[in-house]
Amino acid sequence: MNVQWYPGHMTKAKRAMLEDRKLVDLIIEVVDARVPFSSRNPDLQELARDKFHMIVLNKADLADASVNQLWTEYFQNQGIFVAKTDARTKRDMKTIHETVKEACQKKIERDRRRGILNRPIRAMVAGIPNVGKSTFINSFAGRACAKTGNRPGVTRGNQWIRINSSVELLDTPGILWPKFEDPKVGLHLAFIGSIRDEVIQLEELSLELISFFQKQYPGLLEKRYEMEPFQTPLQGLEGIASSRGCRMKGNELDLAKASSLLLDDFRSGRMGRISLEKPECV
Ligand code: G4P
Repeated sequence: MNVQWYPGHMTKAKRAMLEDRKLVDLIIEVVDARVPFSSRNPDLQELARDKFHMIVLNKADLADASVNQLWTEYFQNQGIFVAKTDARTKRDMKTIHETVKEACQKKIERDRRRGILNRPIRAMVAGIPNVGKSTFINSFAGRACAKTGNRPGVTRGNQWIRINSSVELLDTPGILWPKFEDPKVGLHLAFIGSIRDEVIQLEELSLELISFFQKQYPGLLEKRYEMEPFQTPLQGLEGIASSRGCRMKGNELDLAKASSLLLDDFRSGRMGRISLEKPECV
């Protein structure tokens, strides 16, 4: 299955990011911990050049804890500072503050040597749509100040949010687009619901997801949906439809309904903490 999706405003959003990067010391790149590879835009490496750079593995609550750890080590080995979060809570924000300071240690020391005291670190949050940038900004800033569900191309005012005496954050996140060259990227972003379902064949998508589960989490679907072991993804989908009573008029199995149910269970975390990507596959 090859998911293709080219949203508009791409150039405009990138131009805005290029402008904004001039204003900051630190780029906080937010990625989805379930798909850290697919939810990154390779251009960010370039955009973060000459800047301090940290990665927030967001939605860590939905991803496998042991795989989160592998990704943390993977990025740290590349010299990038990393923190894991569930941005909907403020629980991890102390760690975020500490990581911001660590990432900008060189600037803090340089300012101190020059006798500059109390010049705050200026940071911007960046990432592809739906990774949780706005939610993160709200939690980090401690109040609802970034509009969630933002879209690229809105009027930009360059407002700064004062987090505390040592950090200021640009109120609008930098929006990048995923790179779809590798077909797995489109597929994984579709699994987590980051590509509008209207442009995807949901039944085909759910068969791909079942195939992933068969390989990576064998037995999990059978347990969750209380069904007999199955051989092919289609048998798996039929099993889910049958077990959950998804039937059309005339008692025929409703595979479309079963597909929605499966994807919904997965995206909401009801199937447990699942990582779709591991560093070894990069
Ligand atoms: P964006 O700015 O990067 O586009 O993302 P945004 O903050 O709008 O978040 C996208 C969706 O992801 C939201 O759900 C948000 O609640 C959810 N989310 C953000 N961070 C986390 C996290 O760490 N863990 C989990 N489990 N979910 C997270 P939504 O259903 O689109 O909106 P809502 O109904 O929650 O408002």
